[in-house]
Amino acid sequence: MDNLVALAKRRGFIFQSSEIYGGFNGFFDYGPLGAELKKNIRDCWWADMVQRRDDVVGIETSIIMHPKVWEASGHVAGFSDPLVDCKVSKQRYRADQLFFSPIIVTGLEGVAQTIGYVSALESENTAGELQAAAESFKRKKAIQGTLSPVVAKDLTEAREDEIALIPSPATGEPGSLTAPRAFNMMFQTNVGAMTDGSSVAYLRPETAQGMFVDFKNVVDTGRVKLPFGIAQIGKSFRNEITPRNFIFRSREFEQMEMEYFIHEDADWSKAHEEWIAWCEAWLKSIGLPDSHLSRYAHPKEKLAFYSRGTVDIMFKYPFGVQELWGIAARGSYDLTQHAQASGKPQEIFDETTKKKFVPHVIEPAVGVDRIFLAVLCAGYAEEAVTDDKGNTEVRTVLRLSPRIAPVKVAVLPLLKNKEVLVARAQALYKKLQRRYAVFYDETAAIGRRYRRQDEIGTPWCVTIDFDTIEKPGDTFTLRDRDTMQQRRVTEAELFALLEEQVY
Ligand code: GAP
Repeated sequence: MDNLVALAKRRGFIFQSSEIYGGFNGFFDYGPLGAELKKNIRDCWWADMVQRRDDVVGIETSIIMHPKVWEASGHVAGFSDPLVDCKVSKQRYRADQLFFSPIIVTGLEGVAQTIGYVSALESENTAGELQAAAESFKRKKAIQGTLSPVVAKDLTEAREDEIALIPSPATGEPGSLTAPRAFNMMFQTNVGAMTDGSSVAYLRPETAQGMFVDFKNVVDTGRVKLPFGIAQIGKSFRNEITPRNFIFRSREFEQMEMEYFIHEDADWSKAHEEWIAWCEAWLKSIGLPDSHLSRYAHPKEKLAFYSRGTVDIMFKYPFGVQELWGIAARGSYDLTQHAQASGKPQEIFDETTKKKFVPHVIEPAVGVDRIFLAVLCAGYAEEAVTDDKGNTEVRTVLRLSPRIAPVKVAVLPLLKNKEVLVARAQALYKKLQRRYAVFYDETAAIGRRYRRQDEIGTPWCVTIDFDTIEKPGDTFTLRDRDTMQQRRVTEAELFALLEEQVY
């Protein structure tokens, strides 16, 4: 992960926001290559989700909406995470990410006794960390007896009397943690010249509500028929208590969400399963390996009251298996809420039964930044390569799918001081540039130029050499990033390859 973060900075994928002022926790900037990669992820999703489907339309709604939207949706009352403060260090934690266990020791006389508590922040190995801390505690206090295995619970499960005994992760001492309390994650702002309560508005914490609020507008103007979807890509904002793991959980991020409306009597579980499979296939189409993907079905007792079923597509990040894409069956909850709050029915007329009804919805919701991080993690490799002279070196390579790679082809004249080579390379470069993001590089030895492109994920390099000029056929050397194999191709063959692989 550290090497990946360093590469992201060094090659201009991701910078800390406001870096010259020391950065701003939970906010990031995308550099020239990052902006290109992010745009490609968005464009692929939009093409596959909206343009290439007959049953999905796209919209773009405002980031700041009427505050009543967030009251009706339940966000004002309930969009919160449990927050815990450490009164001494002033650190804040999410209670469901802070784990604890009693340290139980059974003495020689066979009596089990709690001798203290240990705590640890959620990690790949929370239980292991708690166990090690319990062993160290027992050793330091020189307590005899057998230590029981720790039982990790999060702080939302702690009794009031336990909270006073659990050490703060910041100080290692008990007595400073507060009981968990609900912390609303919506960013507030004021709209207009007044800054009193009447002008309070929110930066949207999800793009989804835009689709629900515009449902009738789309139905009345869009010639859509059930089942159909409304999709949108846009920024969302959450005042996360603990932004972390680079861009995985940030305070400003981008979502790609789609609300798929189905008949109230339709088989929702079938539609749900079809969308989960669609999302998995799409992730593979942009290069995520099957081996890194899994599913997590939310247990029935933990579902939100309006949800009939939620399945998350999980990705194996270096810091653990984490949610990438949530696919929820939300019933008719959102449309019904907005109908009640606005007084405007959100129904559709059924031609067969001649009855009006509120459609149900399946919602695949994913973060662009999480996909960005997943493709970097899956694609990053450091591998030993041996050249013709037998020298071995480590090459860093980003195996990005040609669909999303920020640069598709690098055009390299073999020598920069041979005008015929440069002229032919420039002509090819200009022609490619009309359709693709390409890069022209004439500096340094050809091997170094290949390595630079490997590191940023460019799938192909094209070298214009003396054979291009002197031999019939006007062919170039095409070098493949992953196999490092080289072959000769014509301009037409190069364009055909790009046409097939970049879609
Ligand atoms: N409309 C439903 C909704 O917003 P969610 O599970 O809260 O559901 C959907 O968010 C997706 O948005 C997540 O699966 C994740 O990919 C992304 N996401 C959520 N919070 C995020 C954050 N703080 N930083 C980056 N991505 C986030």
